[in-house]
Amino acid sequence: MKLLLLLLSASVISVTEVFAFPSIALEAAAKQAQAHTEKKRCPFASKQETKRATPGFDPEAQLIDVSGDHAFVPPNFDAGDLRGPCPGLNALANHNYLPHNGWGTLTDFVTATNEVFGMGIDLATFLSTYGTVMDGNPLALPPGWSIGGVPTNIGILGSLTGLLGTPEGISNSHNKYETDTSPTRGDLYQYGNDYLVQVPQFEALFDLQPDPATANYDLDVLLQHRKNRFQQSINENPYFFNAPFSGLIVAQAAYTFIYRFMGNKSAEYPEGVLNQEVLKSFFSITGEPGNFQYTPGNERIPENWYKRAIGDEYTIAYFVSDAVSYQLAYPPLLSVGGNTGTTNSFTGVDLEDLTAGVYNAQTLAQGDNFACFAFQIAQQVTPDILKGLFSDITDPLNLINQQFNDVLADFTCPQLESVDMSQFNQFPGYTKSGGAV
Ligand code: HEM
Ligand SMILES: *[C@@H]1O[C@H](CO)[C@@H](O)[C@H](O)[C@H]1NC(C)=O
Repeated sequence: MKLLLLLLSASVISVTEVFAFPSIALEAAAKQAQAHTEKKRCPFASKQETKRATPGFDPEAQLIDVSGDHAFVPPNFDAGDLRGPCPGLNALANHNYLPHNGWGTLTDFVTATNEVFGMGIDLATFLSTYGTVMDGNPLALPPGWSIGGVPTNIGILGSLTGLLGTPEGISNSHNKYETDTSPTRGDLYQYGNDYLVQVPQFEALFDLQPDPATANYDLDVLLQHRKNRFQQSINENPYFFNAPFSGLIVAQAAYTFIYRFMGNKSAEYPEGVLNQEVLKSFFSITGEPGNFQYTPGNERIPENWYKRAIGDEYTIAYFVSDAVSYQLAYPPLLSVGGNTGTTNSFTGVDLEDLTAGVYNAQTLAQGDNFACFAFQIAQQVTPDILKGLFSDITDPLNLINQQFNDVLADFTCPQLESVDMSQFNQFPGYTKSGGAV
């Protein structure tokens, strides 16, 4: 933040400096959060691989403060507070780890998700930058975005110069960010909103572990819920679209994030246990099965809750390995396509036609290829999306391309030359949301 203020106070900023600014802000955000992690990192910590097997447990470093400044305060929607489809971000805003109004800067998001949930800096930086460019105001000083819908309090947006409209927030980013077949939020074209918990969906997850004494919503349980929800979207949503990026990456993340981030870590269970009460608290649910009450936006971090071990952050590589294990267990997850306007009409696209022969169903299922494919397609469609948002896309495009390039550099990817987007025109879930994937 200091660096941002410093730059802001340099009153004469040349045009080139303005263009360079967002990446500077981004680096500052990443460095600050990194420094924070390093400060707390155990000096005896060994290599990443070893740590993943036994993350260890340090109660003092992992206990999350929910008192004083960080006591739970529910949103005041009448006053313009924003909350949306992401329970993690809603909870951070309710505990003042993100601004309570729900509009945060790049720095805010990277710092809060790392500090409170142990999200890897690489993952946090990618997700926040994507949110800023697609759904927020990357040209503001500092750049930021909304965890819900369009702010009614326009003052928090910053200058709208260079923007073709008002930043819409993640609630209004269907197929860009927000996606079908989420764990608890409904499919947009099925329910008319994509950010509220549909209690039956929550209850279906809850019921997979009915015994309060032993319940643990771990990756296996969440895989079962993912399969059920995927089939449910095929069965019930005529406009279901399993998009290359929002489907293969974001929808997938929505599942593993539940256990990886919400689980309560302890000496006995350093990987975490996610029991019924903790699950309900993070999803803003009260009451008993059969009679659950949902209060929108009241996601809450429980008392005595311990985050991921320091040094065991959930990085992009870690997420990708979790995703691959889901795809191996349930290959339909890799089927890019959708329903064609009626329920039970799921049709997969031919990946060779889509990618000019670079990918096919076999190669997509190998190793990290799905990640190459998803991030490459997202990168290819980004200029077209940005043309609808900014009068000059150069600067936002550079900002997000830096992220795409960083992520893709971690994988050995085949070269994708072109994408035939017309393959998607048969899916109304694609055409209705303006060509995002
Ligand atoms: C900057 C970081 C983050 C960004 C940009 C982000 C963004 C999003 C978005 C756009 C969605 C909607 C996806 C969908 O339609 O399913 C979502 C859902 C979700 N996010 Fe986040 N998120 C972030 C961090 C976190 C963290 C730290 C957690 C920790 C618990 C989390 C947990 C979830 C879960 C569980 C869902 C699925 C909600 C449901 O349908 O039940 N996210 N997030
Ligand atoms: C987390 O686990 C510890 C150790 O078992 C326990 O004392 C604490 O109450 C748990 N926290 C929650 C929120 O369940």
